[in-house]
Amino acid sequence: MLAPALRAAGHDVIGLDSFLYRGCDFGEADDFQPALELDVRDVAPSELEGFDAVVHLAALSNDPLGDLNPSWTYDVNLDGTVNLARAAKQAGVGRFVFASSCSMYGASETADALDEHAPLRPLTPYAESKVRAEQALRELAGDGFSPVAMRNATVYGVSPRLRLDIVLNNLVAWAHTTGAIRLQSDGSAWRPLVHVRDVATAAGTILAAPVEAVHDEAFNIGSDDQNYTIRTLAEAVHARMPECEVEFAEGASADPRSYRVDFAKFASRFPAFRCEWTASASVRIV
Ligand SMILES: NC(=O)c1ccc[n+]([C@@H]2O[C@H](COP(=O)([O-])OP(=O)(O)OC[C@H]3O[C@@H](n4cnc5c(N)ncnc54)[C@H](O)[C@@H]3O)[C@@H](O)[C@H]2O)c1
Repeated sequence: MLAPALRAAGHDVIGLDSFLYRGCDFGEADDFQPALELDVRDVAPSELEGFDAVVHLAALSNDPLGDLNPSWTYDVNLDGTVNLARAAKQAGVGRFVFASSCSMYGASETADALDEHAPLRPLTPYAESKVRAEQALRELAGDGFSPVAMRNATVYGVSPRLRLDIVLNNLVAWAHTTGAIRLQSDGSAWRPLVHVRDVATAAGTILAAPVEAVHDEAFNIGSDDQNYTIRTLAEAVHARMPECEVEFAEGASADPRSYRVDFAKFASRFPAFRCEWTASASVRIV
């Protein structure tokens, strides 16, 4: 989803991926062409020479996957990030945009929305790997190397590598395939959401910004009006698919991962940026 958006903005884009999900494309997926088939843990500086920027998305990218083997999660998400960033810095790549995550706010102890200075309370190896990767990138900042952390809200929306494990897509997928909107928790947890196309626009905004405006910064990426409880998201799906009832998985209880997020920093730094989509208005089957 990001590569075509950046190409449309006039950038030359080369993908780099180990292609864990080869063959799992939803419709046409040419967004990685041309591409380097590499593992981020193995990338050498010579492979990054001549690039102006790296936008680093590669990861074991959710909590349940990260829980399967925490050591692999740190290996890919932390050590892989550090290796890629060091290689980029050595190759003279000036900008390094890192896909971090609001999940690092973890178990918020306040009902207030959390800005980038809020305490980080990661609850899972995935979230912890993002916290530690951000710290490591901060240590590399300087000498012509400008890392930026995009603390993305939970993403939704259709993309060629469609993710059906993330909350809103998951609720819609359950409804569409089983006729029931199935909650894995009691639905009381707060979660900020953002559309995949808006994340791509935000990444393009960062790449186009003067480097001083983003150097060594972390930005929450999303919008203040898209902090939802999981129950509200389920109700949005029900409103679109009223024939599907909300149901709870066996043993569903409160999810400790609950946080509301403040997105004012990115909005004030980049007043022309706005999220074009809202989760509640986006639920539909096409
Ligand atoms: N989707 C979300 O809700 C969300 C929210 C916040 C942050 N993020 C972050 O954004 C990034 C992109 O998310 P996504 O939803 O596109 O994830 P995804 O799982 O769909 O894609 C991750 C990609 O990384 C590749 N990859 C995995 N390990 C690799 C390795 N060792 N070397 C090279 N490539 C490797 C995979 O093959 C895959 O193509 C991730 O870093 C994720 O943690 C995602």
